[in-house]
Amino acid sequence: MRHEDLVAAEEVCDTALDDVAAATSFRGDPEPAQRSAERKNRWIQRTRAFLESDPGGCWVAEGDVGVVGVATAVVRERLWILAAYATRRGAQGRGIGKLVLDAAESYGADCDRALLASTNDPRALRRYHLSGFDLHPQFEFGGCPDRSALPAVRGLRDGAAEDREWIDDLDRSLRGGAHGPDHALLAPGARLVVADDRTGYAYVSPGYVKVVAASRVATAKSLLWECLASSSDDVRIPNITSSNRWAIDVGMQARLSLRTQNYLAVRGMAPPAPYIHDTALL
Ligand SMILES: CC(C)(COP(=O)(O)OP(=O)(O)OC[C@H]1O[C@@H](n2cnc3c(N)ncnc32)[C@H](O)[C@@H]1OP(=O)(O)O)[C@@H](O)C(=O)NCCC(=O)NCCS
Repeated sequence: MRHEDLVAAEEVCDTALDDVAAATSFRGDPEPAQRSAERKNRWIQRTRAFLESDPGGCWVAEGDVGVVGVATAVVRERLWILAAYATRRGAQGRGIGKLVLDAAESYGADCDRALLASTNDPRALRRYHLSGFDLHPQFEFGGCPDRSALPAVRGLRDGAAEDREWIDDLDRSLRGGAHGPDHALLAPGARLVVADDRTGYAYVSPGYVKVVAASRVATAKSLLWECLASSSDDVRIPNITSSNRWAIDVGMQARLSLRTQNYLAVRGMAPPAPYIHDTALL
């Protein structure tokens, strides 16, 4: 992938993901929204950052109409992460996806762990299974938390630059790799909350819990409660695997609505816990 491919690559991913969202949505779901200019821009900024940090993990396939396939992956120490993966609308199921995924996977050949967040697309799930991934269905909470259920939470504060070192160590123990340069992508528009005793951290943006990571379940619960307290009234907690029952407990106590949504795919590791991952940066 080159910088000049970014706009076309975003378009390929955008339309492919829209199609999957429309094809796999539940009855009664709102119409999947077109990606806003801001979201498109965020995708481009993020992928531009990957081109700087991990150029060997970023691939496109080109056809007569330009970019027809995209796969972007990053390596964070022992861990390979697939951040984006799509084949152009109308060109799927013809082997392009295998081509770009193989290229992105070869970049992580030295990693003994791999993580990715999958859509419900059966073609994607087939590709990941064939690549040796274990697929774990995920839950998602949504709705308006019952403010009267929010407990008083102690021992948390806003995070700062000097917290990065222990946060990196915590991510190493949970995932096999620190987030490194990805903190710069997680931080914009989000609040970093940390535990005073250095047992966990979370990124929360208005209406959306991005990451919760902890070495103790009690800390993970406190962090998630704090995310709900500081978020807007309509909130989503995506990417909860069954290894994270503590998050289900919190969401239920907050009277949020639970549903299944997408998959976590892991290779060489179990689903991280206590951990709620970011969809692209895991
Ligand atoms: C997932 C995706 C990138 C794969 O790319 P692709 O070009 O379609 O992939 P390939 O053709 O290499 O492989 C698809 C596989 O699924 C199979 N397949 C096609 N339709 C299928 C279906 N309805 N159900 C199950 N498998 C199906 C194909 O036969 C092929 O398997 P095979 O190589 O063993 O024959 C592409 O389908 C896509 O853009 N999907 C929408 C976006 C998305 O969900 N991306 C994943 C983000 S995590």
